[in-house]
Amino acid sequence: MATYASPVPAPSGTTTPSGTTTPSVTATPSATTPAGDGPAWWRSAVTYQLYIRSFADGNGDGLGDVAGIRSRLPYLAALGVDALWINPWYPSPQADGGYDVADYRDIDPAFGTLADAQALLDEAHALGLRVLLDVVPNHTSDEHAWFRAALAAGPGSPERERYVFRPGRGPDGASPPNDWTAVFGGPAWERVTEPDGRPGEWYLHLFDPKQPDLNWENPQVRTEFLDILRFWFDRGADGFRIDVAHGLIKDPALPDLGDDVEEILGTTTREGHPHWDLPGVHEVYREWRALADTYDPPKVFVAEAWVASPARLAAYLRPDELHTAFDFDFVRAPWDATQLRATAAASLAAHDSVGAPVMWVLSNHDVTRHVTRLGRLEQPAGGAGLRSSTSPVDLDLGRRRARALLLLELALPGGVYLYQGEELGLEEVQDLPEDLLQDPTWERSGHTERGRDGCRVPLPWTASGPSLGFGTAQAWLPQPAAWADLAVDRQEEDPSSMLAFYRRALRLRRDVPGLGAGDATSAQWLDLGPDVVAFRREPGSASSTSGPHRWRCPRATCCSPATPRWTAPPARSRRPWPRTPPSGSTSRTDTRPAGCQSVGLTRPATRRASRGRQPPPAGRPRARRRRSRAPAPAPGRRCGRPRPGS
Ligand code: NOJ
Repeated sequence: MATYASPVPAPSGTTTPSGTTTPSVTATPSATTPAGDGPAWWRSAVTYQLYIRSFADGNGDGLGDVAGIRSRLPYLAALGVDALWINPWYPSPQADGGYDVADYRDIDPAFGTLADAQALLDEAHALGLRVLLDVVPNHTSDEHAWFRAALAAGPGSPERERYVFRPGRGPDGASPPNDWTAVFGGPAWERVTEPDGRPGEWYLHLFDPKQPDLNWENPQVRTEFLDILRFWFDRGADGFRIDVAHGLIKDPALPDLGDDVEEILGTTTREGHPHWDLPGVHEVYREWRALADTYDPPKVFVAEAWVASPARLAAYLRPDELHTAFDFDFVRAPWDATQLRATAAASLAAHDSVGAPVMWVLSNHDVTRHVTRLGRLEQPAGGAGLRSSTSPVDLDLGRRRARALLLLELALPGGVYLYQGEELGLEEVQDLPEDLLQDPTWERSGHTERGRDGCRVPLPWTASGPSLGFGTAQAWLPQPAAWADLAVDRQEEDPSSMLAFYRRALRLRRDVPGLGAGDATSAQWLDLGPDVVAFRREPGSASSTSGPHRWRCPRATCCSPATPRWTAPPARSRRPWPRTPPSGSTSRTDTRPAGCQSVGLTRPATRRASRGRQPPPAGRPRARRRRSRAPAPAPGRRCGRPRPGS
C-alpha cells in the first residue's frame, strides 16, 4: 500500500485496520484547495461520504470507528476530495445505523470519544479537508433522555409536548390516531404503557418505533437543535448534512392519508401531503442559516430532502435558507441519454432560479450501489430505491457506466458527493445471509424487503486478512471473497483500476478551472444525437465522460450511454486543457468531429485490440504512451456531430 508524506502524524498509537502500525502513514495537505479557500468552497466541492460503521475499524471489534477514519485520512487526501461527510456517530442503540440518536453532544463509545472526534476534525483540517456531520432533527432515539422523560411524565405533560403523542381511536383508544404508515413498514404509531401500567397514548414514528418523531411546533425543540448545531460548529465542524430535512413539520390535524404507501427515498407528488415537505420547514432552516452565517467562515448545510420536483428542492435553497441539497435525480434516472440530459438540465435550471449549485449524487448508504443499478440488464422504471431486484446484473457493464457517470457529474457545474467504496467499483452485496441483515426494514416489512445492508458492507483495504484489511476481526457484515481483487492495495498497483480512474478524474477536476464551477448557464447543451449527452462548459473546457467517439471538444463534455469505455487522462499531467491527443488518435475508431481534439481518453479494449497488445500484468504499470503534438483547435470552435461513417 502506498504511503504518503505529510506533516500530520497518524493518530498516536493507532493501528491500521489491517493490523500494521502507522508511524509512517502520513499525507500531504492539498496543495491547492480545489474547491477554493473562500467562503463559497461548498459550491463546487467533492465530498466523500463516510458511513462510519463500514469505513475502517481501528479497534478490532468488527465495527468501523473514529480511529479507523483517522488512520485513513491520508488515503482520503490522496484521493483528491475536498470534504468529508460523516454519518451519525452519536451515542445510539443503533436501531437504524445511528439515525436513532440518544445524545447529540457525544460520540458512541463503539466509535470512540469526544476527544477522538476532535482529533479527527483537527487532522482533517490540517490536510485541507472540511468535515460535515450529520444532524437528525426529525426524530430521536426512544432511548434519548427527552423521550424517557416523556414516557415517565405521562399524558398532557410538557415532556410529551416535545414529541407527537395522541390518544388512540376506537374503543379504549386501541387503534392508532390515523392511518399513516412508517417508512420501514407497519403503522407509524406505537402505543405506550403509561406510568400507572395501563395502555395509553400513541406516539408518531415516521421510521422505526425506536425513532419517535419530535414536535417541531415546540419552541424547546427549535432551541435545542440550534444549540446542538452550535456545539459542533464550535468544535470545528464545517457544516451539517440534514437528515429527512423535508419531514420536520406535520399537519397538526394529522389527517388520514388513504392509500399512500411510504417508501424510503420515495417522493410524494401529492399536493398538501400532511407530513412531507410542508411549508413550515423553511422557517426552521432560515433560523439555522442565520446561525451558520454568524461564523467566519460561515458554516454550511446540505439537505436530504426527497421532494416531488427540482422546483420543490430549490425552495430549500433560497438565499436565506440552506446552501445545498442532494440532487437524487441521477440516482433515480435510468441509463438513457435523453433522460440523463433532461434530468441534469432540469436540476440545473431549478437550482439556478435560486442561485444555488446542484449537488450531484450517484450512491449513498440508502440506495443500491450504482455499479449494480447500472449493470442491471432490465432497468427498473423508477431507478434505484431500496428494493432488491432479481434482474441479472452485468457488473462489468455497470462499472463502465459508472465511469461514464462519474465524469459526467464531475464535469457539470456544482458539487459532487461520493459514497465510500464507489471509488473501488464496489457492487451491492445482494446475497447477505438473512440472519445477518440489520436494516430495520427487514423486520418491519415482514421479511419482504431486505433493506439497505447490501450497500453498507465494510470496505476492502487489503487483499487478505480476516476482513480484507477493514480491521483485525471479522467485519459486522461479511464481504464477498471476490472483493479481495477490489481491495485498495490491489487497485493501487493497477493504473487501469477504478481507484486510479477516480484519482485521475479528481485530479483533472482540480486542474481544469471550468469543471465544477459556474452555474447552469455555463453548461450549454449540444445535440449530438439521441444516445449522447454532450455539453459545452464555459469558462474553460471539460473532459469527456464516455462515448463511442474517442475525441473531445474544447469546452464540451460528451457522454454516450451506448458504449462507455473511457478512462481518464493520466494523473501526471497538470497542464490545463486543451491537451495534445495521444498518438494514434486518428485511428479508425476516432470519430471526433472536425475541430474537436482527442484528450487522451482511451478505450482500453479497443486501443489494445487495435494495437495487438495485451494489458500489462497486474502490479506492473503500463508504459507511458508517447504523445504527439497536435495543433490546438481554433478557439471557440464548436463541436459538431461525429463525422458520418467514422
Ligand atoms: C435518511 C437516512 O439516510 C437513513 O439512513 C435513515 O434510515 C432515515 N433518514 C431515518 O433517519
